[in-house]
Amino acid sequence: MLQDSIVRSEANATDRGEPIIRLDHIRRDFDTRGGHITAVDDVSFDLFPGDILCLVGESGSGKTTVARMAAGMLKPTRGHVFFEGKDIYEMNKEEFGNYRRAVQIVHQDPYASLNPIHTIGDMLRAPLLKHKICKSRAEATKRAGELLEMVDCRPVENFIDKYPHQLSGGQRQRISIARAMTLNPRVIIADESVSMVDVSIRVSLLNTMLKLRNELGVTFLFITHDLAVVKYFAWEGNIGVMYVGKVIEYGRTPGIIGRGFHPYTRALAAAIPEADPDLTRSKEKLQLRSLDIPKLTELPDGCVFHPRCPYWIQGLCDTTKPPLMRMPDGRLVACHAVQQAVERGDDPRDLAVTDQLANQIMRE
Ligand SMILES: Nc1ncnc2c1ncn2[C@@H]1O[C@H](COP(=O)(O)OP(=O)(O)OP(=O)(O)O)[C@@H](O)[C@H]1O
Ligand SMILES: [Mg+2]
Repeated sequence: MLQDSIVRSEANATDRGEPIIRLDHIRRDFDTRGGHITAVDDVSFDLFPGDILCLVGESGSGKTTVARMAAGMLKPTRGHVFFEGKDIYEMNKEEFGNYRRAVQIVHQDPYASLNPIHTIGDMLRAPLLKHKICKSRAEATKRAGELLEMVDCRPVENFIDKYPHQLSGGQRQRISIARAMTLNPRVIIADESVSMVDVSIRVSLLNTMLKLRNELGVTFLFITHDLAVVKYFAWEGNIGVMYVGKVIEYGRTPGIIGRGFHPYTRALAAAIPEADPDLTRSKEKLQLRSLDIPKLTELPDGCVFHPRCPYWIQGLCDTTKPPLMRMPDGRLVACHAVQQAVERGDDPRDLAVTDQLANQIMRE
């Protein structure tokens, strides 16, 4: 509830009206061969028009599962997904169809998601004709050309009659974005869509997506394990940091990347490569106690991060789950040590020098 009310009060403060998408305490369980798991546990956030929200976290933290629930492709075990104020599982067929068209996913792997037997032109024309956005093949071809221009595939003639295998990874990724744009979506969920291509191409792809947001007002839910990408793409947006199914820190991008409070966020930020060697030198080197992410079938008691956490407090972090709490600057953080530091009036970033931690380290 706390997280909910906070995300909403932030929104009210800026009077942004109704969110396009609201995830309300969503949870998703799976029965796997290894046992029952909770892949996503109590995640809530609002996406407003033009927002960029990045979900970051290591492999298996539940990012894609959140994305699939936000896109209506997977039903939450608990909780609700709202589109423009309406619970998507209480919609009639027409409303659900509109919602599905308004929220498009761009997939992680453009090699797997583009059908090899169709030309780029066919792929773009098909949804335009099927959903009657264009009335004739000629009109659809014209629109396909505009979409290719929109995603910077120029000149259009070099793309429209090609097959996916004739294009590079970065070009295929652009085609995936163009295809997602055929139905004039309001939200694009980009799931690791730049991780498959190399760094130089990444930046130009991110620029294309930023252009869609800035010029057409497309809202982005962007999913990655790479905070360096977030730094580039979502400086004006929000970040939700996920760790084994939970959001452990949520707030404005500059505050989270520049001054993460949760030790896990700080460890992720410390791993971002910097072009500036001075910055690299001054960057904190936060050592996690263990490199292992816990298995979802064998989660530790208390805070799921405590076995890796350099600041864990014995008798608290190993027994009691930390709730997401609001910090004085408005961000949300789920960490007992951070909470205690804030209550003492300390800067949570000074955790490394508290007596408590010194004692802790000496005990180990
Ligand atoms: N359909 C499914 N059936 C069973 N388990 C699933 C299913 N989908 C996801 N999981 C499990 O849920 C957990 C979270 O998976 P998810 O794909 O959401 O993680 P992710 O953060 O997207 O990881 P990555 O960065 O590798 O893409 C994983 O342990 C995964 O194995
Ligand atoms: Mg994923």
